[in-house]
Amino acid sequence: MLVDGVQMRPIWKVDGKEIIQVIDQRYLPHQLIFKDLETAEDTIDAIKQMVVRGAPLIGATGAYGVYLAAVNSPGRMVDEEYLRTECEKIKAARPTAVNLTWAVDRVFDAALKEPSGENRIAAVRDEAEKIVEEEAENCRMIGLHGYELIAEISRKKGGKTVNILTHCNAGWLACIEYGTATAPIYTAFEKGIDVHVWADETRPLNQGARLTAWELGKAGVKHTVITDNAGGHLMQHDMVDMVIVGTDRTTHTGDVANKIGTYLKALAAKDNNIPFYVALPSSTFDWQLTDGIAQIPIEERNPDEVRFVQGESDGKINRVLIPPAQSPAADFAFDVTPARLVTAFITERGICRPNIEDIGQLFPDKMK
Ligand code: MRU
Repeated sequence: MLVDGVQMRPIWKVDGKEIIQVIDQRYLPHQLIFKDLETAEDTIDAIKQMVVRGAPLIGATGAYGVYLAAVNSPGRMVDEEYLRTECEKIKAARPTAVNLTWAVDRVFDAALKEPSGENRIAAVRDEAEKIVEEEAENCRMIGLHGYELIAEISRKKGGKTVNILTHCNAGWLACIEYGTATAPIYTAFEKGIDVHVWADETRPLNQGARLTAWELGKAGVKHTVITDNAGGHLMQHDMVDMVIVGTDRTTHTGDVANKIGTYLKALAAKDNNIPFYVALPSSTFDWQLTDGIAQIPIEERNPDEVRFVQGESDGKINRVLIPPAQSPAADFAFDVTPARLVTAFITERGICRPNIEDIGQLFPDKMK
């Protein structure tokens, strides 16, 4: 995507070098900083510390992590057992986004198709790059399919502004290009539809206020940052036409894990008859789990993320403490929205209802 006229992605391989570069998302929107990843350990750290975040990007970073493990393997031999151990370490970096396991396993399988050494390194690199390109294309397709939903609302409103609420950041920063939840918005905007986005700030790490607002602003899309608790009020007062969110893992039965607070938005949308869409590439479907609430692992992070808030003042990025210093805090990073609250999924292959039959019809090749 264009940032101040410069084509940018959140991750790329440096030409001619065995180095991966990423945008360090911890400093956005106040500073645009790039970070080098040179080892598998660097990628694990980047995923854990949320230098990179968002399910498709976590997957892509994991895939490149396997590549970096391969280039740093003893004698560049990429022994199978060595690579398997490295892959397990990468997969353990964050638990909720299924894209991580999906991408790492896929690159590992590609590695085993080559005997060892340089051929194996090349296979791993090519597969990681393939994943990155596929995810970009998937998001483009999600944009085209989701655009139809926005266009329909715009027609019904006689061309008046379509107000879309989103939670967290499921934009290009999280997904290589276009984003998942934001792809239909960018497509509608490009095609001249009048769109406005309500961006939930998304405590504790404020991905909505920091990242979604930054992205939309750079693209020229109208948006307003709101507190996480404002959505219900806006819905009651006809100020939201649709909700589009992303997801970190969705069961093939239709339950959606996404950033904490998504469930409450889905409840409010249901109560107010507002369509609630979830945009995702097939890499975010979990083809094994059947009960999202019982089975999807929900990451609990450092409570300091709740206790402190980061922002900019006097040109510097600072953290400030919010609650009493002695008060304990808890940091649940995701929640699960049951399928019954979801209107439909927007995928790279089209739109489907949130149930095993309809998902299976779109993805017969993926069902186990
Ligand atoms: O903790 P994060 O920032 O990695 O969480 C991921 C998210 O931004 C969201 O949950 C998002 O909606 C899904 S990722 C496209």
